[in-house]
Amino acid sequence: MNTRSTQESTGARRVAFLGLGVMGHPMAGHLARAGHQVTAYNRSPAKAAAWAAEYGGATAATPRQAAAGASLVFACVGNDDDLRAVTLGDDGAFAGMAPDAVFVDHTTASAAVARELHGLARARGLHFVDAPVSGGQAGAVKGILTVMCGGDEAAFAAMQPVALAYAKAVTRIGDSGAGQLAKMVNQVCIAGLVQGLAEAIAFGQRAGLDMPLVLDVIGKGAAQSWQMDNRGKTMVDDKFDFGFAVDWMRKDLGLVIEESRRNGAQLPVTALVDQFYAEVQALGGQRWDTSSLIRRLKK
Ligand SMILES: NC(=O)c1ccc[n+]([C@@H]2O[C@H](COP(=O)([O-])OP(=O)(O)OC[C@H]3O[C@@H](n4cnc5c(N)ncnc54)[C@H](OP(=O)(O)O)[C@@H]3O)[C@@H](O)[C@H]2O)c1
Repeated sequence: MNTRSTQESTGARRVAFLGLGVMGHPMAGHLARAGHQVTAYNRSPAKAAAWAAEYGGATAATPRQAAAGASLVFACVGNDDDLRAVTLGDDGAFAGMAPDAVFVDHTTASAAVARELHGLARARGLHFVDAPVSGGQAGAVKGILTVMCGGDEAAFAAMQPVALAYAKAVTRIGDSGAGQLAKMVNQVCIAGLVQGLAEAIAFGQRAGLDMPLVLDVIGKGAAQSWQMDNRGKTMVDDKFDFGFAVDWMRKDLGLVIEESRRNGAQLPVTALVDQFYAEVQALGGQRWDTSSLIRRLKK
């Protein structure tokens, strides 16, 4: 692992950022503020224009144009198909990248698409690093994400110091696909934990306890978690209009369950929680934060 404190500062680089959504917008902003020359692309051009007005970078009409002349091309789009849409084809980034340039993908996607694009990039003399993130919107805004990477060591070494502009840690887990597999481990951890927290809060509320007080007390003991610290109070208050969308979580758990069919891992709780999230979607919670699991317990 290499953290900002142990990393020497890097010179300004010419980079591109594709996908200025909830995560990409602030991440690209940190790159611009760190002094890099950023060209941004977003499918809906209005978001790119708004980003450029805020941070002063350039915009491009296609991924290919954004990638031209950049030594590093970052992306944070929705899923496997979106990632193929910004990398491949006549207007895709791969067509515009200079030899030896590195594509860094922050999308949460499958390990299979990471390996596929790594192979296609190598065939063109390019590099591809899968680099999904953890830390949510707040982590992106504050520039304290955790980035888990898969890919060749030299390509990782090229991207790591630059990505530290928006991360507290950027770590190579292994070969291509290993970053996405590590993110799947992360999501398995979160799924069961959020359901446990939801059951605990719903139980405490039915028991008539002062739950903010209870969470404050047990949050200083062995039950403490990031979810309890950051989502406990809003779960008590029944507020979910922020954070990491249920639709995205279902996409991630779908990737996990598909991978488990390949590697034989047993995920009984994760599979159950995935179905609970399907119920939350049916309640209208597609864009609610993942802590909305508690909603189905309050029906
Ligand atoms: N939000 C979180 O807390 C969080 C945390 C960790 C990881 N992630 C992961 O990070 C990724 C992005 O999440 P987000 O919350 O930033 O999503 P978002 O706000 O919905 O942004 C998605 C971005 O991808 C672009 N996009 C989607 N499909 C595209 C396509 N076919 N071609 C070109 N661009 C396309 C969108 O462009 P338009 O503006 O034109 O729609 C937008 O810029 C997801 O994989 C998510 O699972 C999110």
